Amino acid sequence: MTTQLTIRRPDDWHLHLRDGEMLKGILPSTSAHFGRAIIMPNLVPPVVTKADAEAYHDRIRAAIPADHTFEPLMTLYLTEDTNPDDLQAAADSGLIKAVKLYPAGATTNSQSGVRNFSKIAPVLERMAEIGLPLCVHGEVTDSDVDIFDREAVFIDRVLEPLRNHHKDLRVIMEHITTKDGVDYAKQGGENLAATITTHHLIINRNDILAGGIKPHFYCLPVAKREEHRLALRAAAVSGSDRFFLGTDSAPHNDDNKLCACGCAGIFTAINTMSCLAHVFEEEAALDKLEAFTSLNGPKFYNLPANSERMTLIKRDKPTIFPKQIITGAGNVTVFDPGFKSHWDATLTADCRNN
Ligand code: NCD
Ligand code: ZN
Repeated sequence: MTTQLTIRRPDDWHLHLRDGEMLKGILPSTSAHFGRAIIMPNLVPPVVTKADAEAYHDRIRAAIPADHTFEPLMTLYLTEDTNPDDLQAAADSGLIKAVKLYPAGATTNSQSGVRNFSKIAPVLERMAEIGLPLCVHGEVTDSDVDIFDREAVFIDRVLEPLRNHHKDLRVIMEHITTKDGVDYAKQGGENLAATITTHHLIINRNDILAGGIKPHFYCLPVAKREEHRLALRAAAVSGSDRFFLGTDSAPHNDDNKLCACGCAGIFTAINTMSCLAHVFEEEAALDKLEAFTSLNGPKFYNLPANSERMTLIKRDKPTIFPKQIITGAGNVTVFDPGFKSHWDATLTADCRNN
């Protein structure tokens, strides 16, 4: 029985860090484990220009604890008015590593997203030219489409036509939640990949709705039926380089989660690695964990894997995590996976600054 595993330090290819007091409060949960993260730009107002991304990058760097090393990989929020030259300048300078597409109205702070996809064609052409990946929130927003079908419909109505039109565009399907997403990512060729969250490997829609409503399991895209969760698990543990970790850890304070119209988002940054080791062990695939968390992502983004290492140790007693992170912007409830993971993740000493 494996009780210890050393892997390359992981990265998080989809993360919400927010700003101000929330940023300060939750960033250490990520930087304690992850070497880098793709930082989502859905602030209010969103991170739209190179100047916005520079300023946000500085604020994030200022919030990194002195004894942690962490590199925020910035993104721009794609709008119908995005200027291709500004975007290219941000990419050429090395500041941004991707651009995020939110269909308008799809999720938290997506009001400035895209309504008319023909308007973004010039930007997508430029991105294809310079090899800058597009991170896609893949859900249609039409009110006549059932929320549980929105990902599958997006693939047919939006993603397939968009990729046919921009054949060289590199696309990452963010936080896929369905078998349809897995199947589409598999057949997409070398320009297509998909991120999978920790929580979508663990919960299905019954966990949200059966036996009482659980606001802390509500996120977007919403968790689907069990057959979809199983398809995601199979993809994550397959070792296929099309799939890698993007936690979509998305903190909201409890006041905003526990109310009549609660926010979408699950906070998993602090216990993701422990939960994933448990999941991969359940699937008899601990040998594939490193590919999922530490190798496949950098490969798609054309970045080197981290040189530092993380050791995961299976202890006799379950690993204890705080139930909440207390921040200056309110309390954030930590994802409860519904099992006790005995896996404890620590970085080797040489990952730290001192
Ligand atoms: C995210 C957030 O809160 O910013 N929420 C979520 O449920 N995942 C937005 C997103 O990634 O859809
Ligand atoms: Zn997200």
